[in-house]
Amino acid sequence: MEIISSDIQSSRGRFIAFEGIDGSGKSTQIQLFADKLRQKGILCETTMEPTEGPVGTMIRQVLTGKMQMDGKVIAALFAADRLDHLLNASNGIVAKVEKGITVLTDRYYFSSYAYHSVDMPMDWVIRANELSSNTLRPTVTLFIDVDPDIAMERITRNRTHLELFEERSRLVKVREKYLEAFEKLKSVENVLIIDGNRPLDVVAKDIWERIGG
Ligand code: ADP
Ligand code: TYD
Repeated sequence: MEIISSDIQSSRGRFIAFEGIDGSGKSTQIQLFADKLRQKGILCETTMEPTEGPVGTMIRQVLTGKMQMDGKVIAALFAADRLDHLLNASNGIVAKVEKGITVLTDRYYFSSYAYHSVDMPMDWVIRANELSSNTLRPTVTLFIDVDPDIAMERITRNRTHLELFEERSRLVKVREKYLEAFEKLKSVENVLIIDGNRPLDVVAKDIWERIGG
């Protein structure tokens, strides 16, 4: 699938969402992919959710246990942070894509569908994110699929403190919810599943061959 090269002629930038459970390698792969795009001369920026904006900052306080909130409120905050991510006047994604910049995001609305539908109906979460999905659907959502045991091993290797959702049983459920969401939305979303259990460079090469050029 030649997603990047064939679109160079188009004046709009691409929008690619990297998804996966915690520890799946999203942040690593997004940087490697961005480096390769830049080497090809493609204007590209990376970003992430939760964002570093005001709503994202509040979310991080909840994730690290400094602030407590009901799960529905957290889900609503993620939806608000996402809209800010798209529409923010100084660095919103929509304006960048319209300017021709390719934007790679570490997490987007499928993260909400997967993480929050463990505790509440997925349809509620999808509806709560409709302003975002109607505003900007990714050119492709790349799901880096990793076995939860491998992901846990990677997460715990370098850290002593785990965040709110970083627990094995939770990651198992979240992975299942991702797959359920992909199946549910397959008629409207373009999702590519990558086997992320392999060594870093093998995964990077696979991603590049499938969507890079
Ligand atoms: P995420 O952003 O999905 O949470 P990271 O990219 O931060 O994941 O990766 C989590 C940890 O696992 C990091 O220490 C990273 O170096 C390591 N890692 C990433 N991809 C692989 C891989 N394919 N094989 C082994 N270790 C990896
Ligand atoms: P992040 O800092 O990206 O963690 P990681 O690098 O491990 O992927 O994401 C923080 C956590 O927020 C992560 O556990 C997933 C969760 N999350 C949600 O629950 N809902 C959402 O909508 C998003 C974007 C993330």
